[in-house]
Amino acid sequence: MDSLRLLILPGSARTGALSGRLAACAARLAPASGLEPRVFDLRALNLPVYDGDLEAEQGVPAGALALRAALMDSDAVLLVTPEYNGFPTPLVINAFDWLSRIPATAHPSGLAVTANKPVALLASSPGALGGLRAMTSLRQYLQMAFAMLVIPQQFALSRAHEAFDDEGALRDARSAQAVQDVLAALGNLARAVHKP
Ligand SMILES: Cc1cc2nc3c(=O)[nH]c(=O)nc-3n(C[C@H](O)[C@H](O)[C@H](O)COP(=O)(O)O)c2cc1C
Repeated sequence: MDSLRLLILPGSARTGALSGRLAACAARLAPASGLEPRVFDLRALNLPVYDGDLEAEQGVPAGALALRAALMDSDAVLLVTPEYNGFPTPLVINAFDWLSRIPATAHPSGLAVTANKPVALLASSPGALGGLRAMTSLRQYLQMAFAMLVIPQQFALSRAHEAFDDEGALRDARSAQAVQDVLAALGNLARAVHKP
């Protein structure tokens, strides 16, 4: 089975972020589903908050073009989101809003790169719902605006601050299996989409 390229986007870049730890777990589990992971740091893109005046004066920032390049180099995406007041983080939304503003030139537009790209969602939170509401919003956003193929399988890691052992692995085998199940479903769809 040839590996497909999996772009993993943690929705928080802060030191010790629970979503970053869950993303790292997913990266370790991905090869079992035939997915070669690349964890991508959205903060490193240094994107300003979207501003139409800035766009008119300077165009789309280089960071957004870097995200487009990363998406072009991937066969599937895994987004690992925290939840801020029931929503995904500004780090994710701002990056994707900028992405959506990239016009087609010699390269495809930002929206052309996301269209029909398989994507799966994970969430994490110290709370009891594990960021479930953020995934609901993100699902709609990625499907409706970006035409991404968001798979039905998803997983919210509740009490995430207690979920990892000292090596960063998930303590609960059922949680690890749930992540593995999401990755397997994502791999299956990505293979079907990319079948020659
Ligand atoms: C602005 C803000 C809003 C938050 N809102 C929620 C929320 O709606 N639901 C929830 O479960 N946790 C909420 N939290 C707590 C986060 O889940 C927690 O800080 C988490 O560790 C952030 O994700 P990270 O560890 O990946 O950075 C909120 C935190 C912040 C800073």
